[in-house]
Amino acid sequence: MNRKPLVAGNWKMNGVAASLAELELIAARAGNLPAVEIALCPPATLVAAAAARAAGSALRIGGQDCHAKASGAHTGDLSAEMRADAGASLVIVGHSERRADHGEGDAAVAAKAAAAHRAGLTAIICVGETEAERDQGQTLDIIGRQLAGSLPAGTTAANSVIAYEPVWAIGTGRTPTEAEIVEVHGFIRARLAAQLGADVAAGLRLLYGGSVKPSNAGTILKLADVDGALVGGASLKADDFWPIAAAAGSAGPGLSGP
Ligand code: PGA
Repeated sequence: MNRKPLVAGNWKMNGVAASLAELELIAARAGNLPAVEIALCPPATLVAAAAARAAGSALRIGGQDCHAKASGAHTGDLSAEMRADAGASLVIVGHSERRADHGEGDAAVAAKAAAAHRAGLTAIICVGETEAERDQGQTLDIIGRQLAGSLPAGTTAANSVIAYEPVWAIGTGRTPTEAEIVEVHGFIRARLAAQLGADVAAGLRLLYGGSVKPSNAGTILKLADVDGALVGGASLKADDFWPIAAAAGSAGPGLSGP
């Protein structure tokens, strides 16, 4: 099954209008890597402007989180439909920072992913264990439980992407070993086959996330069952993000080429 690599940047709560200059540098070059899908997820305040700057390019724009409902009395929340209306074509749900900061459990994440599907967005559904869970040997149990609870009915390879992000690797500069990444990604693929059927599982892209940077992207992105990356800190600057995207296309040039 041919899975086109996806390299998605998550700006989190970073970026103001001036930051769109970095996004424009990526938009201008995205078409040079036709074998890689490239996306940036700026904060909600910038999605419409980002979509306008990326118009006509191969760069996809995404949102970070969405409410499960399409509209209603939910002060401060944004729906998947609003994301789509602003120009996003994907949305991150279930990020560990949402799970930790906002108490989002698996059922809430599944409802958000279903909302993304309803609005025609690709849902990037995140799972990952904490350091304590890994130390206690619970990693696969936790990931299995999160997959069972966070994927809504109707999840397909076309409308969803799974991101494995060990919580202890996010923003820390630490990454799992290659063997650990391969073990978890292989486990996720097998679980997805049991849960969604072999065909869907074979087509679903599995991203690795957590301290991905230019210096480790080449190694991580060539691992078995790693179909791309979800990138936080290193997505804020085009000079950092572009080499990661290029590594997914195994081209490996810096920002100056191709
Ligand atoms: P990081 O974040 O690349 O800054 O570690 C990854 C993420 O949270 O998606």
